[in-house]
Amino acid sequence: MAAYEYETHEYDVVVVGAGGAGLRATLGMAEQGLRTACVTKVFPTRSHTVAAQGGIAASLSNMGPDNWQWHMYDTVKGSDWLGDTDAMEYLAREAPKAVYELEHYGVPFSRTEEGKIYQRPFGGHTTEFGEGPPVQRTCAAADRTGHAILHTLYGQSLKNNAEFYVEYFAIDLIMSEDGQCQGVVCWKLDDGTMHVFNAKMVVLATGGYGRAYFSATSAHTCTGDGGGMVARAGLALQDMEFVQFHPTGIYGSGCLITEGARGEGGYLTNSEGERFMERYAPTYKDLAPRDYVSRSMTMEIREGRGVGEHGDHIHLNLSHLPAEALAERLPGISESAKIFAGVDVTKEPIPVLPTVHYNMGGIPTNYWGEVLNPTESDSNAIVPGLMAVGEAGCASVHGANRLGSNSLIDLVVFGRAAAIRAGKVVDPSSKNPVLNQASVDAAFDRFDHFRNANGAVPTAELRLEMQRTMQADAAVFRTSKTLSEGVEKMDAIAAKLSDIKVTDRSLVWNSDLMETLELTNLMPNALATIAGAEARKESRGAHAHEDFTARDDENWRVHTIAHLDGKNVKLTYRDVIKDPLSTEAEGGISLKKIAPKERTF
Ligand code: FUM
Repeated sequence: MAAYEYETHEYDVVVVGAGGAGLRATLGMAEQGLRTACVTKVFPTRSHTVAAQGGIAASLSNMGPDNWQWHMYDTVKGSDWLGDTDAMEYLAREAPKAVYELEHYGVPFSRTEEGKIYQRPFGGHTTEFGEGPPVQRTCAAADRTGHAILHTLYGQSLKNNAEFYVEYFAIDLIMSEDGQCQGVVCWKLDDGTMHVFNAKMVVLATGGYGRAYFSATSAHTCTGDGGGMVARAGLALQDMEFVQFHPTGIYGSGCLITEGARGEGGYLTNSEGERFMERYAPTYKDLAPRDYVSRSMTMEIREGRGVGEHGDHIHLNLSHLPAEALAERLPGISESAKIFAGVDVTKEPIPVLPTVHYNMGGIPTNYWGEVLNPTESDSNAIVPGLMAVGEAGCASVHGANRLGSNSLIDLVVFGRAAAIRAGKVVDPSSKNPVLNQASVDAAFDRFDHFRNANGAVPTAELRLEMQRTMQADAAVFRTSKTLSEGVEKMDAIAAKLSDIKVTDRSLVWNSDLMETLELTNLMPNALATIAGAEARKESRGAHAHEDFTARDDENWRVHTIAHLDGKNVKLTYRDVIKDPLSTEAEGGISLKKIAPKERTF
């Protein structure tokens, strides 16, 4: 057994991660007087939410008619009928409240002439239950909305006495013998000390695992740490095969160009200068949802109409927009285009390519953020003491495809929901759980094993192998052949973790070891993704299977549940929740309205 000295910290709640969801949860917990710690591997305002550009969806009706029922309908349709209906209703209904709270906390939203929050169009957001024109539903702070939200929530959390543990890396969850989460074991990166956080509730807000892929808009820190810890604890991951490609990553660097660019009037063209989205989505054109646009772009490239020397990308045109509008509404992406593509957006198109952007799947939860461990007898069984929110979680509001700007609203609505729920189930006057020492020791043993790993495969090499395989074999379009090859290759790649080589044995700022631990988190996420994709014999949302091109609601309107045992993935399935929270008589949507149908735009 590895002997590490550690300091123990006791809190009511420990939130792991300080992005939008983590901070909203932290703030909500602290506001209620719960003793709350937020543990984060990067400084809070450097969390990946800072990169969110275009905005946050809520039916405020500031720019024209809108309501939560239309927002809910769009989310259901966007999810390709794989989202859980109760959670999607909760999201759409609570969204306006959550945004007004942000406004009152101090988020500097862009404004209309009348001083209301400015809202822009985003893909898949419509009126009249998908029958009317696009709606301006996405509330924006120029094209730096995530940045504005993150800074505001961090300030508010400090004001409410939340305590931050910055640059602490979470190694593993502490689980009791009978399956209750009791805390988390952490490594403090800047001085090498070890810390055990003991809590009545642990909230995982660790973000997505975009870095399992070679080209992603995600920060290098997006390594699926929550999913990795959950998988090692024997708990489930859900719907991991649904990986969103954002249509407009800058060609080469993958840097995000917000969908807000098309919301403000930008459009895509092929090598013939054609606005090809008019052919694929005659009604909503460039503002069709992301899975649709990414597939259309890929088809154009495949059919020889890509732009550039190799015909391997597409153009995003903004130069027809007034220079003042670009400066006011899209200053960030104008700068990114200059830096990463050498392009002046007032004069030239931006070279873009669909790029991995978001994980619809994650740790299964109910709409209060409570983690589920679906069993045969109870598909909604709750793991006591554990919540997951934001991209790490899967509530599931995005189903098979997320609508743009439904991510920021997911972060704040469900971060807030987790806090509301914790206010009910966490008793500040009760004693903290007695820690299961065996679980604490196991975390240190694993840490020590990798710290001293002396195999033949450097971490960076193995990570690259995984990223290239995922990029090639679990791509925008998938086939039985690429997927089964992908499963085989990933199995061999994961096996090499036992031969990993870490060269730095120190405890202080050991990035070699940290990246190795991150790789051990990415790996189960990647394995569950490719296995889930290989098994799903239909096309739905972001899972475009060329050998099974139709959606198959009879057999596949189910969530994929993945349990990992080392590198082996066991798949089971769980029913989608089909009932909304409220009936039509109570002001909700009728079941008939949200019944599955063909998804066209
Ligand atoms: O395009 C964007 O601004 C990204 C937004 C989102 O992923 O929701």
